[in-house]
Amino acid sequence: MKISVIGTGYVGTVSAACFAELGHDVICVDIDQSKIDQINAGIPPIYEEGLSELLKKHAGNRLSATSDYDFAVTNSEVSFICVGTPSDAEGSIDLGIVKAASQSLGNSLKNKKEYHVVVVKSTVVPETTEKVVLPIIEKHSEKKQGEFGIAMNPEFLREGKAVYDFMHPDKIVVGALDKKSGDIVASLYRGIKCEITRTNPRTAEMIKYANNAFLATKISFANEIGNICKMLGIDTYEVMEAVGKDFRIGRHFLNSGAGFGGSCFPKDVKALIGKAKEIDYEPQLLRSVIEVNERQPLRMVELLKNRLGELKGKKIAVLGLAFKNDTDDIRESRAIPVIRELLDVGAIVSAYDPMANANMKRLFNSIEYYSSTGDALRGADACLIMTEWNEFKSLDNEFEVMKKKLIIDGRHMLGHVKNIEYIGLCW
Ligand code: UDX
Repeated sequence: MKISVIGTGYVGTVSAACFAELGHDVICVDIDQSKIDQINAGIPPIYEEGLSELLKKHAGNRLSATSDYDFAVTNSEVSFICVGTPSDAEGSIDLGIVKAASQSLGNSLKNKKEYHVVVVKSTVVPETTEKVVLPIIEKHSEKKQGEFGIAMNPEFLREGKAVYDFMHPDKIVVGALDKKSGDIVASLYRGIKCEITRTNPRTAEMIKYANNAFLATKISFANEIGNICKMLGIDTYEVMEAVGKDFRIGRHFLNSGAGFGGSCFPKDVKALIGKAKEIDYEPQLLRSVIEVNERQPLRMVELLKNRLGELKGKKIAVLGLAFKNDTDDIRESRAIPVIRELLDVGAIVSAYDPMANANMKRLFNSIEYYSSTGDALRGADACLIMTEWNEFKSLDNEFEVMKKKLIIDGRHMLGHVKNIEYIGLCW
């Protein structure tokens, strides 16, 4: 089929490339000319494993990019809205970009005679497709729902593994108001072996939030149990290993540590809290999930203060700046509140991350960044491990260069190092 994808961020670009790989003709739409040029040249505007190969294979062939909505809508049968949904000052969802994209799509649909389906893929709070996107498109296209189709099709892609997750999903959810548009969207995934869950748009929207909120809850739960374990001298990883054997629970996402970051969990849980507030429901559990997550990284600094006392003038090495391993993304990274707190109390911070130094430098310009663990550790009074990078697991002699041999591990990376004081955050 012929597809247009609005927005060339991480979800849009990955979806466009994967739909092309499935045999569809795809037109990407963005207002940023540099991203359009990059995609047309077969260069991904973001880093994702496997994406570069797909763009090289399909750009200029089954895949192209443009800023022209009319061209994209005329030359496609389905349009996916894949634009960003940032948080507003209170943490609730800001639908400004979704509204703008809906308006542009509506304007382009006005002159189109053939049936066209608009699909929301951006993560939007329940009711958005029906109560925000649909009315805007109806107004600007001067058409009624039925003359065009409308659907909601959430994504569940992990950053870094997004291409793999798109091609090997454990669920595909299609929420539509009418059978015809739902059938068209479902047919796009024919090349993928996965059962398709068919439902209405607001349920599809909620499935995405419930999914992420549950995973975030699992992590905060593991962290709370971990904090209690720590005080009782119990290794929470041993506890969760056994607990995870219960098939109703499962072992995934029970790794306690410095908490969750990234572009999804914190934002999505807060957006769901905002939606609940809007309908006068007090989401106690979701609020606690966020509160535990906000306190968790600061517990690293508390452990440090308990051990070293006054931190003013002390050199603290922070290993790991990205919100998780294998990415340069620092959004909501748990290293951010830790570095902020260390600077507030007058500590000297030396930092190292295999990929994220440059991004963190934009946020904290005054700290020292190093290109190796050894350099960051030289002369340090303590070291904090903030990200689950694989290379941290094998650290050993590198700690020799520290002034005081003290490690506080926020990701359960170490434990075997000799002649060094090791403190686990929750174990
Ligand atoms: C997540 C979801 O997994 C994905 O389905 C959704 O579409 C987007 O959000 P992502 O943000 O890429 O994906 O990262 P993920 O691997 O889920 O990790 C999120 C955060 O949780 C990281 O900061 C990670 O360090 C933390 N985490 C994860 C834990 O602290 N403990 C765990 O057991 C697992």
